[in-house]
Amino acid sequence: MITSDFNKYTFKFMTGSDKVKLNKKAKNIEKAFDGGDLSYWNDLNTFVTHEELKTIIETANYVRENCDVFIVIGIGGSYMGTKAIVEALKPAFDRSKPEIIFLGTNLSSDYYRDVIEYIKDKDVIVNVISKSGDTLEPNIAFDIVKYILEGKYSEEEMNNHIIITTDAKKGSLRKLAKQEGYFTFEIPSKIGGRFSVFTPVGLFPLAVMGIDIVNLLEGFSHGNVYTPLAIEYAVDREALFRKNKPVEAFVVYEEKLYYFTEWLKQLFAETQGKNGKGILPISIVNTRDLHSLGQFLQQGNDIIFETVIGVEKTSTIKIEKYDKTLHEINKIAEEKVCVAHYDGKTPSLVIHIEKINEYNLGELIRFFITSAIAGALLIEVDPFDQPGVEKYKSLIKEALNNIYIF
Ligand code: PA5
Repeated sequence: MITSDFNKYTFKFMTGSDKVKLNKKAKNIEKAFDGGDLSYWNDLNTFVTHEELKTIIETANYVRENCDVFIVIGIGGSYMGTKAIVEALKPAFDRSKPEIIFLGTNLSSDYYRDVIEYIKDKDVIVNVISKSGDTLEPNIAFDIVKYILEGKYSEEEMNNHIIITTDAKKGSLRKLAKQEGYFTFEIPSKIGGRFSVFTPVGLFPLAVMGIDIVNLLEGFSHGNVYTPLAIEYAVDREALFRKNKPVEAFVVYEEKLYYFTEWLKQLFAETQGKNGKGILPISIVNTRDLHSLGQFLQQGNDIIFETVIGVEKTSTIKIEKYDKTLHEINKIAEEKVCVAHYDGKTPSLVIHIEKINEYNLGELIRFFITSAIAGALLIEVDPFDQPGVEKYKSLIKEALNNIYIF
């Protein structure tokens, strides 16, 4: 369940805001989700079919039994949601098998040297994920891992160690998978990278990690009821932006939600940051960052608003000296920081989930995806493209003279 308070710590900043105007626009966006152009978001089959789900779970069970290390290769939307959910749900010092390693997010030789050293004597299965099938970083990561695998397994065995997730028809990865007979999952053509965690892009690696993807999907499906709230949040963000708050800090008080804030940064930056528009997203993990960015939020240039994502129930650890649980102290910190920052000209929009589990994360991810799309439509930019990202991709390709092929 999601609860919210968009009023308490924004109130004084909203006088004379553009909310009335924005709410008029928001009505049409709500209609688009409810039976209009965007209603495909309400149909789970857009993301994954029942048959695919069965195959995902069966294949994931095979992978869990047959490797020490499961490598997920992908960048941006092809890995960020998965990483956010794994980090939120797995124990902090998880030693269970298979271990998950995310690759394809950098071009650092020192990092890859360490990876090669680490995986060379381990049983490895790799899932390469790229919608376009042509992104440089994952393609290079795959080349490196494939080279290591070729040294360990016979040509026949290789097919049990490589799983490709890509577009049904287009791109070099699809071509390669056909040529080599690799096992594949399809990314639905309608769903772009940063929205794809509920397609095989996220569902398969999450299932390998033992995450209950059926529950996650149930949360996602039910998240539909929060469409009006997500649109209200989009309106409030935009109203604050228009009150000279061009930066949004996504703030959490649970360490395990750090990557969730990273996912949020990616979701909002790529969905709304175009045509000279958009709110700059940053991320904050408290109470750690109260001792760095906290100073700026309290007394610095007052250009920031916060979206605080709180959790109601967690583990119970008693701190005798205060006669309180650690969680109670954390919640006091969350509240008092909102009060302090409000006084310091930094407003906060507050969103709470009951506890961190698959179902609630499904709902919360759906909430933020809906809101990011709605926010883009409010400022009249296309939520579904990312031409800025394509620009750097094509310049690198050009610099490499298009010589990069599998
Ligand atoms: O959200 C997006 O569309 C992007 O972040 C992509 O996921 C990212 O650029 C990777 O693209 P691809 O999956 O085509 O390799």
